[in-house]
Amino acid sequence: MSSKPRVVIVGAGASGLACAISLKKVHGLDNFTIYEKGPDIGGTWRDNIYPGCSSDVPMSFYSLSSDLHDWPQSHGSNEDIQAYWVGLTRKYGLYPHIEFNKTVVLAEWNSEKQLYTVTVENLATGERSVSTAAIVVSAIGVLEVPRYAGIPGRETFKGELFHSGRWDTSVDLAGKKVGVVGNGASATQFVPCITKDPSVNVVNFCRTPKWLLPPTRKTYSNLRRAILRNIPFAYRLVRWSVFLRLEFMYLAVFGNAFLRRVVTKLLTSYIRHTAPSSMHDKLIPSFPVGCKRVIFDTNYLKALHRPNLKVNWDGVERITEDGVVTKTGDHIPLDVLIFATGYAADEYPLPIVGNRKMSIQESFRAGGGGKAYLGTMVPGFPNFFMITGPNVVTGHTSVIYTTEVQINYIMQLISPILGRKIESLEVTQSATNAYDDKIQARLSNSVFMQCHSWYRVGGEGKVTNNFPAAATVFWLWLRKPDWIHYTVIGGESWLAKQQLRQRIWGGFKMSALLCILVLGASYSRRAIFR
Ligand SMILES: Cc1cc2nc3c(=O)[nH]c(=O)nc-3n(C[C@H](O)[C@H](O)[C@H](O)COP(=O)(O)OP(=O)(O)OC[C@H]3O[C@@H](n4cnc5c(N)ncnc54)[C@H](O)[C@@H]3O)c2cc1C
Ligand SMILES: NC(=O)c1ccc[n+]([C@@H]2O[C@H](COP(=O)([O-])OP(=O)(O)OC[C@H]3O[C@@H](n4cnc5c(N)ncnc54)[C@H](OP(=O)(O)O)[C@@H]3O)[C@@H](O)[C@H]2O)c1
Repeated sequence: MSSKPRVVIVGAGASGLACAISLKKVHGLDNFTIYEKGPDIGGTWRDNIYPGCSSDVPMSFYSLSSDLHDWPQSHGSNEDIQAYWVGLTRKYGLYPHIEFNKTVVLAEWNSEKQLYTVTVENLATGERSVSTAAIVVSAIGVLEVPRYAGIPGRETFKGELFHSGRWDTSVDLAGKKVGVVGNGASATQFVPCITKDPSVNVVNFCRTPKWLLPPTRKTYSNLRRAILRNIPFAYRLVRWSVFLRLEFMYLAVFGNAFLRRVVTKLLTSYIRHTAPSSMHDKLIPSFPVGCKRVIFDTNYLKALHRPNLKVNWDGVERITEDGVVTKTGDHIPLDVLIFATGYAADEYPLPIVGNRKMSIQESFRAGGGGKAYLGTMVPGFPNFFMITGPNVVTGHTSVIYTTEVQINYIMQLISPILGRKIESLEVTQSATNAYDDKIQARLSNSVFMQCHSWYRVGGEGKVTNNFPAAATVFWLWLRKPDWIHYTVIGGESWLAKQQLRQRIWGGFKMSALLCILVLGASYSRRAIFR
């Protein structure tokens, strides 16, 4: 039996797998289980198999910093990305740790035993089993539970109907009348692919236009690939350049009003040059760039010239057994209806109960929406860590990067638990409130407040998904735990020592800074009066 406490990870998408790799590498831990409700690893990249599905961040940066890969193109298809994560799962021996088709239906903190009781349901048999874990890491993703837009009559439709995140490959679209609801990142990737076949007649039901950036995809030359394969430093430079480019994009889109005006002009001109002129008025958004997720165009605007693709802006009133009725009363007959209407990103679906006998959903509701210290810990939930918890999505950079930053932070927090220096760790309510106030104050002045989007509760409420700064800031804030913001059970003297050490170090840094300022000021005074 392992002498180290047991860790349960919920979800075997990129985050759960990356966390498991770190548990092995950083802590040499073998005593962990990943419960995955799906039949395979991969999460997003297992589920999204729609035509044209691919990353919008270059793969050199949308991959683990520890496992650089020889990508043939700048952007990976869902198959390439899934194959990458399958390769890592094998490489790090993770398969024996994963229990597939098992959904975590409850994780409840037992204050007496200082453990979570984890109940898991086998989706194939319906059987439930119970085990305990000292630590629970939630890696359930954000874009995971499909949302169907609440249009009435969906159940009456007699044709084929599915969500973009659950693409039905058995449906042959050739010769069919296909309705697509939505024009977000998913729809704009698959609509140009399915309309390549002129026999597929698509009506794209759109509600709000989107800002689209010109395509940036390229296939790599053999020379470039050989250089990156053989010179790791060159690869690191490429990663850095992508990181910096995306940070610049943050500045241009979110951080600076003047640059945003320039970007708006460029994107308006891109839409005008690419889309049919009759559609310009409808296609140019009136809300600021960045308010909704910016989309890298994958030939959606060009595809609008195709005679077999029509855009309908009238709004879908209801679904009938053979089509849809628009808000203007038109009945549009359809054989297939595809919902590209996004995900329930404003709800936290993991059923977990903490030491206040409150579920995380009740806790979030009480706070008007998700609220977590550094998007990672919630007061009242000891030893529970979230990857991509509230306010972590940056909207401009690689999620794998923010995931690695969070995992590095979590590895430091769990170190004393795994080393049995403490039994449990909890973030304070005051630190969480102060953190939430800080980021909400920034968000209240941000572009995210200026339109309806999945970033906000119910589309229009509190912004609970976005981090309101550049990825560099996220890294800075999560580099090292500030132990002053935590309480522990079963290791109070260990915590007191960490807090004292941090206070002394903080005092030393402050004194050094003061000395530099005083010396600098006296030097410049002398220089001025000389
Ligand atoms: C189509 C699409 C394209 C994207 N492209 C990009 C991109 O280019 N760049 C980028 O940075 N981000 C992109 N994203 C965001 C993407 O979701 C993240 O980058 C990343 O893959 C998320 O990984 P994850 O492991 O956190 O979550 P997920 O991939 O969602 O995995 C969560 C896993 O948890 C499992 N799970 C959930 N609940 C339970 C439970 N109760 N019990 C057991 N298992 C559970 C799920 O089955 C799933 O396998 C994209 C998203 C979508 C939908
Ligand atoms: N790699 C990539 O490029 C990529 C690809 C796919 C997804 N993603 C990620 O996944 C996220 C989700 O993308 P998504 O496209 O699946 O979802 P989404 O961005 O949330 O888009 C949903 C679309 O459905 C529309 N919609 C919702 N209800 C509607 C209704 N009743 N009638 C008409 N239209 C309706 C929305 O319109 P409104 O705008 O009016 O609400 C929007 O156009 C993205 O933001 C991105 O982070 C990334």
